[in-house]
Amino acid sequence: MTLTKKISTARLSFEGHDYDLPVLEGDMGERGLDVRNLLKDSGLVTFDPGMVNTAVCESNITYVDGKNGILRYRGYDIEDLAEHCSFLEVAYLLVHGFLPTPSEYSAFSKLMNLHSMLHENMRNFFSLYPDHAHPMAILSAMVVSLSTFYPELESDPMEAIDITVSRLLSKLRTIAAFSYKKYMGHPIVYPRSDLRYCENFLNMMFYTPVNNYEPDPVITRALNQLLILHADHEQNCSTSVVRAVGSSHANLYASISAGVCALWGPLHGGANQRVLEVLEDALRNNISPKALVEKAKDRHSNYRLYGFGHRVYKTYDPRAKVAKKVCTQVIKHMSQSDPLLDYAQELEQVALADNYFQERSLYPNVDFFTGLAYRAMGIPVNMFTVMFAIGRLPGWIAQWLEQRDGEGQRIVRPRQLYVGPGMRTVEETLATDLYAKKKTK
Ligand code: CMC
Repeated sequence: MTLTKKISTARLSFEGHDYDLPVLEGDMGERGLDVRNLLKDSGLVTFDPGMVNTAVCESNITYVDGKNGILRYRGYDIEDLAEHCSFLEVAYLLVHGFLPTPSEYSAFSKLMNLHSMLHENMRNFFSLYPDHAHPMAILSAMVVSLSTFYPELESDPMEAIDITVSRLLSKLRTIAAFSYKKYMGHPIVYPRSDLRYCENFLNMMFYTPVNNYEPDPVITRALNQLLILHADHEQNCSTSVVRAVGSSHANLYASISAGVCALWGPLHGGANQRVLEVLEDALRNNISPKALVEKAKDRHSNYRLYGFGHRVYKTYDPRAKVAKKVCTQVIKHMSQSDPLLDYAQELEQVALADNYFQERSLYPNVDFFTGLAYRAMGIPVNMFTVMFAIGRLPGWIAQWLEQRDGEGQRIVRPRQLYVGPGMRTVEETLATDLYAKKKTK
């Protein structure tokens, strides 16, 4: 049973047999070949490294049109949500499928407050990491540790979905802020019930005994907007990991912890940290934008222009458009100017005008500008991917729930084409000259 419509069939002819494969169509017109019975009927598997051509699920959460640069959560354009909603409203939307009424929002906020604390024993964990520990490693370990404090989740996660969701959303923010304090060597700051989601996070980050942090409405709004941009992105690498782990019926915390690790990689969410490091290095060492672009074009250099390119977007990433605007506003608000922003904008222009980038449809992605905004807010570079994780959490949760409850969901278990050695024995190997030579070396 599928939710997509069967609109036609495609015929595959192989070794004298014809196989009719249903062609399915999603609600926005995207089409897919249904190969679910292919192996059973023909003995063939599909070969698709990186799953470039593979739809792994039907989903009603997020829609991406990579050709036209469209991103929608539950039908709402990302620009619309960033303009009119708070991050928490969007989190509610992603998880529940509809925007909250004021009373639903207030109940949700109350739950968020109620669950914002960490068990005091968890505080001790932070002190045991080395000083240079990357906050993403701490985040992943802490999230999975939550399952040891809330094991009831394993027995019935649907029992109180609001509690589960708010617990994770709220505690992830607290963990993130605590890991920053650990990195700074400052005393931790507890969450406060009188502050809203983003204000609360900023206060936990920047309040110190000698600095009475006052939430700044411009920064709070910008943070809400940036987190909204990150909140979901259909079947990206980390979300696929969350769904795959969830498909084994691992608990929500374990699945999200795995997603955090996947996000950390520099080809995915970790790109925001790389972008800033590259910009800082270029400015420090007087490397021109043109030189960076030339280096990225060199096949032998193994170097990429981080913050550029995307598997799905073959035009300007709609998130990058909003991020650029937010970043410019924050920098103007904080310091009037930033040589790194000037450099980034020049780099963007040089890359967009270059044939190599045009031929491959490489445009700035979400990570190109977000880091500059976080930096202007005072967030250190190694926390950037943590910010992405805080934003992505509602999407991961929504996708995990959809995977778990969706009809016909099965454990994720891809196939392979084996190209290794044929059958051999240990005895034969020990008797070879090659083994004898290696042994005497
Ligand atoms: N700089 C230079 N060349 C690039 C870049 C780049 N940033 N991105 C892609 N290319 C080239 C690549 O070398 C290849 O060239 P050719 O056809 O000559 O071999 C072509 O463009 C296609 O690239 P690909 O690696 O096959 O594309 P992909 O869909 O597998 O990878 C990507 C997508 C995002 C991993 C890649 O564009 C990339 O590495 N970008 C830099 C890292 C980055 O910014 N990641 C953040 C992505 S957005 C946030 C998120 O959702 O994760």
